[in-house]
Amino acid sequence: MPRGLLLTESPNQERLFRRSLPYLREYGGRLAVACLVALLTATSMALVAPAIGYAVDRLVDRDGRGLAVATVAVVVLAVIRLACQMGTEALLPRAVELVIRRLRDKVVERLATAPLRFIEAHRSGDLLRRATAELADLAAFTRTRLTTMVTNAAYLLVMSVLLVLYSWQLAIVLAVAYVPTHLVLLRLADRISKPASAAEASTASDVAAHFRELLDIREQLQLHGGGEKWLGRLTGAARAQQRAVLWNQRGLNLVSAAQLVQAVALGALLVVGGLQVTGDATSLGTVVVFLVAARQMSGAITQISDLGSHAVAARVVLARVLNLLHRTRPRPTTGLPVPTPARGTLQIRDLTYAYVPGHDVVQHVSVTLPAGDRVGVYGETGSGKTTLAKLLSGLYTPSNGSITYAGIDLLHLEPAELRKRIVLVPQEVHLVTGTLLENLALIPTRPTRAEVEAGISSLELDMWVAGLPHGLDTDIGPRGQRLSAGERQLIGLVRAALVDAAVLVFDEATANLDLLTAERVESAIRQLAPDRTVIVIAHRQATVERLARPMQLRGGVLGPGRAQQY
Ligand SMILES: Nc1ncnc2c1ncn2[C@@H]1O[C@H](COP(=O)(O)OP(=O)(O)O)[C@@H](O)[C@H]1O
Ligand SMILES: [Mg+2]
Repeated sequence: MPRGLLLTESPNQERLFRRSLPYLREYGGRLAVACLVALLTATSMALVAPAIGYAVDRLVDRDGRGLAVATVAVVVLAVIRLACQMGTEALLPRAVELVIRRLRDKVVERLATAPLRFIEAHRSGDLLRRATAELADLAAFTRTRLTTMVTNAAYLLVMSVLLVLYSWQLAIVLAVAYVPTHLVLLRLADRISKPASAAEASTASDVAAHFRELLDIREQLQLHGGGEKWLGRLTGAARAQQRAVLWNQRGLNLVSAAQLVQAVALGALLVVGGLQVTGDATSLGTVVVFLVAARQMSGAITQISDLGSHAVAARVVLARVLNLLHRTRPRPTTGLPVPTPARGTLQIRDLTYAYVPGHDVVQHVSVTLPAGDRVGVYGETGSGKTTLAKLLSGLYTPSNGSITYAGIDLLHLEPAELRKRIVLVPQEVHLVTGTLLENLALIPTRPTRAEVEAGISSLELDMWVAGLPHGLDTDIGPRGQRLSAGERQLIGLVRAALVDAAVLVFDEATANLDLLTAERVESAIRQLAPDRTVIVIAHRQATVERLARPMQLRGGVLGPGRAQQY
């Protein structure tokens, strides 16, 4: 698969907000209300400093009434602030939680419909982590920290405007003492945190992927040992994750230097403010407003910076999720008419496929299979049979050439329509945790129990099902682990029998069956309705010849079958 179509470990974080808009839009109203309430919280916080400044001036004037008004204002502001803050805390995380739920649903939907090659090209641990743990981290961030960040940021904005209105001279003093140093510190911290957070996310998914693989191969490890090597890989990945976490923490520590800046700013304010008050250029109250504001703003900046690394981590996660959604976006549909005819010709023209560019595994295959044709393809292991089967059933997109059913390119068929017309009985049947019935019914037509039973009978497999502990309701264990390799194949065959497909592709579908069962299944295949196209793939020429006109696949090239030599 070309690199440009794969997921990236630390994807582009530019214009994240704009790229998230399609997912935010649906909850735009809720988000806007939440932000408005946050702005109210910030304003009520910011107005406290002017109220105190006013109180000081009234005190200087010995105006008792004015002082009382200021006191009441401070209390009222505190009450408003509390109410608004509670409102923000209730509204904002809820709105964002809805957005995240939407993202999660989209991720699941996209992974379920992503091209098979996309899934195969990634480690399942990585995909799993992106779809679960990383989204959970994002949700946790929004629940616990986003409100604090948004409220503090809004407070800084409102307070800055108020201060400029009060005294632009003192505002300049404050800005000169604060802004450049804070900007430098924050930039430095950001420069460390951004790559560190990306490294943290990617090393964590590496650990998850290793762990998953370790679970998958445990049987092999128990049989042949070598566990230390795999455990070594896991601990290596875990160590890399730990290094990334420490590196991230270093960015955070920088932020504590901001406290020094605060002391310098307060000193500058006292000197300039004092000079202005003695020269009667400003009131004592105004200087007090600035002193109170400077302290509060400093607190807000520290709170934001403390959360900075979490925010960066959340941005990285969001970028990784958007990357996943972008890479798995559905192909544009061509609006061709559905449904397709129930039977049709399968035409393969100059079909070529490469997993790795320049290394063709299927080469220039051209063949026309009218409805009802029976062909068999045999070839050595590695000759490209399974690849061809996946191409013919539309699971892979050809690198070159085309496959059409009833004149329509498989690429343009709706996935559900395609699955109804062309059915692959794969070499490896995939099963889900659940009962036999649930697994047999995993097909597009959602068959009833009676229909499933009829399908089983058509393959003469009633005895097999009757022999299982609870018949159709037998629990087959996690991903079908309680079944033998042959039994798994039987499930694939019954699934195929339940769909009235126009084209059936059998990829070594009877390879794991005992002779008697294989013969029964093959006789069922022979008795399929004569207008159904059958492609039987096997590595033995004899298996193919029992069922169909044989063709040979050699190094990805399809040619006529040769006479058997005994
Ligand atoms: N997912 C994959 N990624 C890269 N190469 C693959 C993949 N699957 C199969 N191949 C390669 O393609 C060739 C054909 O494989 P396959 O179609 O499975 O052969 P067969 O079914 O005839 O044994 C083999 O050389 C194999 O190494
Ligand atoms: Mg194969």
